[in-house]
Amino acid sequence: MANQEDIFKKVISHAKEYGYVAQSSEIYDGLSAVYDYLQNGAELKKNIREYWWQAMVQLHENIVGIDAAIFMHPTTWKASGHVDAFNDPLIDNKDSKKRYRADVLVEDHVAKIEAKIEKEVAKAAKRFGDAFDEAQFRSTNTRVMDYQEKADTIIKRLARSLEKEDLEDVKNLILELEIVCPVSGSKNWTDVKQFNLMFGTKLGASAESAMDLYLRPETAQGIFVNFLNVQKSGRMKIPFGIAQIGKAFRNEIVARQFIFRMREFEQMEMQFFIRPGTQKEWYESWKETRMKWHLSLGMGEDNYRFHDHEKLAHYADAAADIEFRFPFGFKELEGIHSRTDFDLGSHEKYSGKKLQYFDPELEESYVPYVIETSIGLDRMFLAVLAHSLVDEELDNGSTRTVLKIPAVLAPTKAAVLPLVKKDGLPEIAHQIIDDLRLDFNVTYDDKDAVGRRYRRQDAAGTPFCITVDHQTLEDRTVTLRHRDSMEQKRLPIEELHTAIDREVGMRHWLKKIL
Ligand code: GAP
Repeated sequence: MANQEDIFKKVISHAKEYGYVAQSSEIYDGLSAVYDYLQNGAELKKNIREYWWQAMVQLHENIVGIDAAIFMHPTTWKASGHVDAFNDPLIDNKDSKKRYRADVLVEDHVAKIEAKIEKEVAKAAKRFGDAFDEAQFRSTNTRVMDYQEKADTIIKRLARSLEKEDLEDVKNLILELEIVCPVSGSKNWTDVKQFNLMFGTKLGASAESAMDLYLRPETAQGIFVNFLNVQKSGRMKIPFGIAQIGKAFRNEIVARQFIFRMREFEQMEMQFFIRPGTQKEWYESWKETRMKWHLSLGMGEDNYRFHDHEKLAHYADAAADIEFRFPFGFKELEGIHSRTDFDLGSHEKYSGKKLQYFDPELEESYVPYVIETSIGLDRMFLAVLAHSLVDEELDNGSTRTVLKIPAVLAPTKAAVLPLVKKDGLPEIAHQIIDDLRLDFNVTYDDKDAVGRRYRRQDAAGTPFCITVDHQTLEDRTVTLRHRDSMEQKRLPIEELHTAIDREVGMRHWLKKIL
């Protein structure tokens, strides 16, 4: 079986070969942690965006969407805390001259301990077969318990040191754990320093009058500064939400793992404004709602888990991640944060403008509390792509590579294939396309034998192939082939639209989260 690193490499090369993702400015040897979405990638991204927007904005009467500018007044970032606190602790290895995030070095060390636990569990599961009680094993096996205690102690100490900004202790922890630089193999580390992640730029024509700006590191602040505009113009009553999808920029120190951690990326965020004191219930409710959205895509319940934050961001009183099983392990896909009244309260202070809501039931004004849901579009894209790519062994002993993207998100919904390039079959294929393209993204393919065309569409992630053959000339029926089951069904051309819509139509998928 291929190891995780090989699987991930395959995802990256498949993404390029099938027109999903390539490195930015590749002809100039690329730009680190910046990527371009190609023809299929742009479609998949658009469909994920749409699936999120419809679930959040269209299905919730009390949520509206906005599109704020990337540039914001610089005081925004003072008020939000990003100028002072949006830092990562970095450490350099003096021998390799490589720079790392100190917390990531420690977390990677812990991940290795956790991998040992999983190995012990897998071994025991094999030994005991059906009689295996995993929970009991984890809580009684001394080796597993020792590993777990070790991992927990390290993570707690890291969280405590970061919380207290005790960077000396973070370095001590790295030295005590004997963590070596993956490149030089040495323990010759510098001190740990804080590094601000925001990209700076300038607005204005002349050097004297130019104003220092930042590229936004999150979309959330565009929502907070528009809270009153939306509340008043939309006559919104609390509780209500404002959603937004847009680009964000972070000068990440550790930029690796393909599109998992990028310097330019896209976020899909929603701020839900609530009465102070109700944050616990809404926090739990949004955790559940968001998990339901993920599960509706059918990528396996076992591949998601919640992870409560040990170290809370400067704005939060509770926070959890929805983690997904990526090829390199469980990692954050989405964050759900109870942000209190930090942001609106702070913008009130810095702007001198009241950002309050008059609650007609309570007959009082207050600064609303906020629950935020924040998911990286690119990370969601990676989750979908990595989970969907499978090599399948077929009954006849051959293998096929198939991209089992949830049909609702697939870039192209159907490929129409005339069996031969003559006898009027291409003309019928084009007529079918002309009709279907009013609702679905469909493509035409007449190159190579039909079997090879099926394989090509499987690997590109197209859920349906429609084959036009000589029988079509006689009775106007075609073959509809299903990507995942490879089942083929003969049906009249007039029934194609309904058959495809049943599987790719957004309304059928969205129903699962109602
Ligand atoms: N407004 C809250 C916020 O920005 P975050 O946890 O820093 O919180 C939210 O980011 C989500 O944005 C993450 O769960 C992740 O999916 C995505 N994200 C953050 N940094 C990213 C990066 N450098 N590249 C790609 N996605 C990123």
